[in-house]
Amino acid sequence: MRHLMSPMDFSVEELDTLMDLADDIQKDPAKYAHKCDGKILATCFYEPSTRTRLSFESAMLRLGGQVLGFATADSSSAAKGESVSDTIRIISSYADICAMRHPKEGAPMVAASKSWIPVINAGDGGHQHPTQTLTDLMTIRSLKGSLSDMTIGLCGDLKFGRTVHSLINALIRYRNVSFVFISPPELRIPDYIREDVLIRNGIKFKEVIKLDDVMPELDILYMTRVQRERFFNEEDYVRLKDFYILNKEKMTLAKKDMMVLHPLPRVNEISVEVDEDERAMYFKQVKYGMYIRMALILTLLELAD
Ligand code: NCD
Repeated sequence: MRHLMSPMDFSVEELDTLMDLADDIQKDPAKYAHKCDGKILATCFYEPSTRTRLSFESAMLRLGGQVLGFATADSSSAAKGESVSDTIRIISSYADICAMRHPKEGAPMVAASKSWIPVINAGDGGHQHPTQTLTDLMTIRSLKGSLSDMTIGLCGDLKFGRTVHSLINALIRYRNVSFVFISPPELRIPDYIREDVLIRNGIKFKEVIKLDDVMPELDILYMTRVQRERFFNEEDYVRLKDFYILNKEKMTLAKKDMMVLHPLPRVNEISVEVDEDERAMYFKQVKYGMYIRMALILTLLELAD
């Protein structure tokens, strides 16, 4: 039995197969409409979510399966003090596969170690968010045609942003990918990513504070929200929350084919006027997220053929 805790759990070849399957599902959804008949997905969300939870649910429903679960910790027995280890043993009797989001780093991993069904990490604290990364990879591959030979700028909260951490881990495996990290000094990428992931693997990167200066070099700009819920005090959040605001004027500095991605939700970091720009891909990204989750569910349930 297989779980998904980090994007590294799949090899580059396996990721290709997964994305090919997602492509096929997108082309011919009817072929897959009953693949999960009689199967149940549990969504156990101890932290807020719109896209991730609903895209998992939509994915399972479109495969003919059914869903159950909870959307907040206080509506589950966690409020009574039940551990994730116990909860997953219970869920294992009710469902065939589980997507879990938790504010504590490593909680889905603990659940997976006690589970009798596949567990998918749907975001654990400031650590990883592998299915957002699958979404991002699928978006880039579909719209750019490849995951190699590009400069990707990651901008905003690079310290607490789990989507950023997972995406860096996944992208270093492709040829000639370099990074520009754009953040205020307080929100730089964590040391373990800089040392153990980037430097150790000889990846080209630089860290800057100003977005304007690097805009012309980027093939992709990945914007992120300042992660308010992970700050220790509100003052720091208020000081940093509007550090970057991507607007029309900044977009004039970018390449004609630069792509703007964002895992969403957006707060202020992308001005709504940018939505009209044909390089703004963040709403398209959402749809790819559903197809790749369909492919993932089929793969982990060993129904992909
Ligand atoms: C992201 C997350 O939960 O980490 N959202 C998502 O799943 N698309 C990004 C965020 O909350 O800022």
